[in-house]
Amino acid sequence: MQPAQQTVFDDYPDGVIIAGADGIVEYVNARIKVMARAEGDEMLGMHLSDAVPFDDLNGNSWFDCTRPYDGLNIRTRTSESSWWSPRGSEYLITASLVRQRRGGPVQRVIVSVRNARIRNLADRERSDLVATVAHELRSPLTGIKGFTSTLLTKWDKFSEEQRQLMLETVDADADRLSRLITELLDAARIDAGRLTLKRGPVRLAEVVRHVLTNVSGGATEPFEISITDDVDLIWGDSDRIHQVVTNLVENAMRHGFGLREIVVQNTRRANPGAGVSLEVHDNGPGIPVEMRQRVFSRFWRSGPGAGSGLGMYIVRGIVEEHGGTIEIRDADGGGALIRVWFPINEPDSMSD
Ligand SMILES: Nc1ncnc2c1ncn2[C@@H]1O[C@H](COP(=O)(O)OP(=O)(O)OP(=O)(O)O)[C@@H](O)[C@H]1O
Ligand SMILES: [Mg+2]
Repeated sequence: MQPAQQTVFDDYPDGVIIAGADGIVEYVNARIKVMARAEGDEMLGMHLSDAVPFDDLNGNSWFDCTRPYDGLNIRTRTSESSWWSPRGSEYLITASLVRQRRGGPVQRVIVSVRNARIRNLADRERSDLVATVAHELRSPLTGIKGFTSTLLTKWDKFSEEQRQLMLETVDADADRLSRLITELLDAARIDAGRLTLKRGPVRLAEVVRHVLTNVSGGATEPFEISITDDVDLIWGDSDRIHQVVTNLVENAMRHGFGLREIVVQNTRRANPGAGVSLEVHDNGPGIPVEMRQRVFSRFWRSGPGAGSGLGMYIVRGIVEEHGGTIEIRDADGGGALIRVWFPINEPDSMSD
């Protein structure tokens, strides 16, 4: 191997072992020496079966199971699988079987050895997520099941009024469940980078007025709305932007002791330029600096008004999909200030 190639392989994040046609190790990179705690060139000249001393859970060795030099003569690689080192750590191993011609003997075997810890961590995170989701779904379902069973078995024992009350609770729990499922699907789309936007011209000021009417039921709250007259159109997904504004307004009401002020205005950024910002100020305690990143993580919630904790995660996903930004600050005079910024994203055909 050329010295330049050697340096490249030494920087490679996985362990690499190369053996010739006779199974004798010709090269090992720096990473494998660290993994095997081998000094200098002591692994060179070893047989591949000794240089890859990994077993499966039944004690069968990697070399005997994969038999890189035998088997089907058109094999070009062995698939990635888990193996255990003599020290009990798990590794993922793959090998390329290099032949000079198709069907000819194996001339060289290149083995790649990767620590499985990172992948195991990712797997564990995934199963934690499944457990959290299952738990979230179970609580409203428990309520529904409790009331329906009681009503079915003891229908006559309750007054008309009591039955009505129980059914209303069941109805509210079913709504909660349905909302939770919609949020979970949105979060999954964001995770997979598959949140597709149905873009069109959106007037952020109108969205805000609409949300305020819906959320407050038309009641006049003691808060200020400041919307500049000439707010530009955004080229975005109207329903998704509705979702963003609804979440922020609901958070201000549930966690921030009510809305204090909403500001919508044109705000230019150095890059990509023109845009529209929305600021939601509230009367609450604000969000401490050390909590500001956590608020955006899935299922993180706190305080008496806490819901599923998916709201801000979805809000950030939608805003970023639009190419925008979201930040949390302290409002003047206390309370949280959530500022969202959307670029205009003007398509060629859009005109006001
Ligand atoms: N304006 C705010 N003032 C103070 N705390 C806030 C504010 N907005 C969010 N938080 C905190 O951040 C947490 C996460 O917010 P998020 O919107 O993600 O979830 P949620 O409102 O609890 O549930 P969901 O929105 O899914 O119904 C909240 O539980 C709350 O503790
Ligand atoms: Mg929320």
